[in-house]
Amino acid sequence: MRVIVCENYKEVSKRAAEIVADQLNSKPYSVLGLATGSTPIGMYENLVSMNKSGKIDFSSVKSFNLDEYYPIKRDNDQSYHYFMNEHLFSKVNIKPENTHVPNGETDDPQKECDLYEELIERSGGIDLQVLGIGQNGHIGFNEPGTNLCAKTHLTDLTDSTIEANSRFFEKKEDVPTQAITMGISSILKAKKIILLASGSNKKQVVEELMSDSITTNNPATLLKVHPDVILICDKSACSYYDLGVDIGGTAIKFGVVDGNNVVHKYKVDTNKDSSEALINQIVKEYEKITKEYPISKIGVGVPGRIINSLVSSSNLPFDNTNLKQELSLKTGMPVKVENDANCAALGEALAGAGKEYKNIIMITLGTGVGGGIIIKNKIYHGRGDAGEIGHFAVNYDDDKTPCPCGLTGCFEQYASVTALVKLAEKYANDNKDSLLYKLYKENSKLDGMLIMSAYDGGCRIADEVLNEYVKRLSVGILSLRNIFSPDVIVLSGGITSRGDVLLQKLSNVASLDIPVKISSLKSDAGIYGAALM
Ligand code: GLP
Repeated sequence: MRVIVCENYKEVSKRAAEIVADQLNSKPYSVLGLATGSTPIGMYENLVSMNKSGKIDFSSVKSFNLDEYYPIKRDNDQSYHYFMNEHLFSKVNIKPENTHVPNGETDDPQKECDLYEELIERSGGIDLQVLGIGQNGHIGFNEPGTNLCAKTHLTDLTDSTIEANSRFFEKKEDVPTQAITMGISSILKAKKIILLASGSNKKQVVEELMSDSITTNNPATLLKVHPDVILICDKSACSYYDLGVDIGGTAIKFGVVDGNNVVHKYKVDTNKDSSEALINQIVKEYEKITKEYPISKIGVGVPGRIINSLVSSSNLPFDNTNLKQELSLKTGMPVKVENDANCAALGEALAGAGKEYKNIIMITLGTGVGGGIIIKNKIYHGRGDAGEIGHFAVNYDDDKTPCPCGLTGCFEQYASVTALVKLAEKYANDNKDSLLYKLYKENSKLDGMLIMSAYDGGCRIADEVLNEYVKRLSVGILSLRNIFSPDVIVLSGGITSRGDVLLQKLSNVASLDIPVKISSLKSDAGIYGAALM
């Protein structure tokens, strides 16, 4: 079962109508299974206006309604015949002879049921079945305890249904105690099913529907055996989650976020064959996730530039790709796309080391230096691509280390782990009796962790390297403090697993009047930020 979480009832109605419209436009001779109740009314309103404006045509459509009270006169304003005329049939160009509602006036309900079932079959079966859900989980009038194999049949209504539906009648005693309804087996034969739910009075039953159980006690859960069911519900009718996607050059991380907690996360290898392959990969994972977690929106972090919604990335097959548009078309979800470093900064600001503050600068120390600027809990974009924290010059006449960005002497050239390693290699070569040099030769390379190991082993040279590195880092930190006066600066990146050492040394070289903290979400910051955008 796929779940679409909508903001409110209006959106549920619109989304449901769009699915019906797609059905009619792709197959004008469609057979629709229709529902009554208050929930589908908004969908019918949308269909009526789509029909009036020529967007959809009912002239070849056949319809079968799920149910009808028994006994009831057609002209009773509480009959489902009356309801359907009122809300749809009299307002669109459907042929009256093509509409079917079980006959609540019949003297022979069994015969009516058999005939109804036969008519559905003779029409070729239902292409798209629309369903509402009762507060006790009934669909049509298949009440809890219903027979799984039942076809169209006469059924007794439970007290709770009579009570719930009495709101439409003058008094409870006026509600018929029986109904003719399509059975579970008739409903499950439909090729596609959409189930609509809105309002907090449906929340409990929708949560059961979202759980693992399949039980006749909640007839709607039986729909889970059908291969093509979409639950369209609003936020008041379900617990919902946000999906954060952090696309990296080697792996894509997915995180299902409930408020400020990641409740489910995993990663897959990035498919870099083409932008289409990569987008389809994300859509496929979204479809898997939404079977278990109702998702209300998707946020995506991507390593690259995003200008006017177009993504270009040197690490991914995106070149002016409208990722937001393509993903929302394919998933039907609201989608936001953001630079991955900005996402990580936002994640840290909203749910991590910066969550007590509003104005945050995050500096990510890695192969390069990245980061994000968060002002009043929002990403600062400038004209679109602000936040390149690694690319302001700290040494204007440094022509030895030109930066790919076009400047020379960029902060990144001094504060990245790449710069730290270069510095350490130089110091090691100049001090061949040091532990740092020994580790360098043993491993034929140096990296952040080896430098820290030498430092932990009491190596004076490693200590000097780190002092020099932190001195350079502090120049950028102090400059950023002066420009933005943030509430906090958060450092992230692999090297900050030894944040204790960095912070200690930083306090020796810089007197800062704001706190500097180490990222608490680590490599999950990106999925948090993407989801919480
Ligand atoms: C009735 C109908 C159902 C419908 C249910 C929920 O009992 N037989 O098909 O789903 O009501 O109605 P509502 O949408 O008003 O909550």
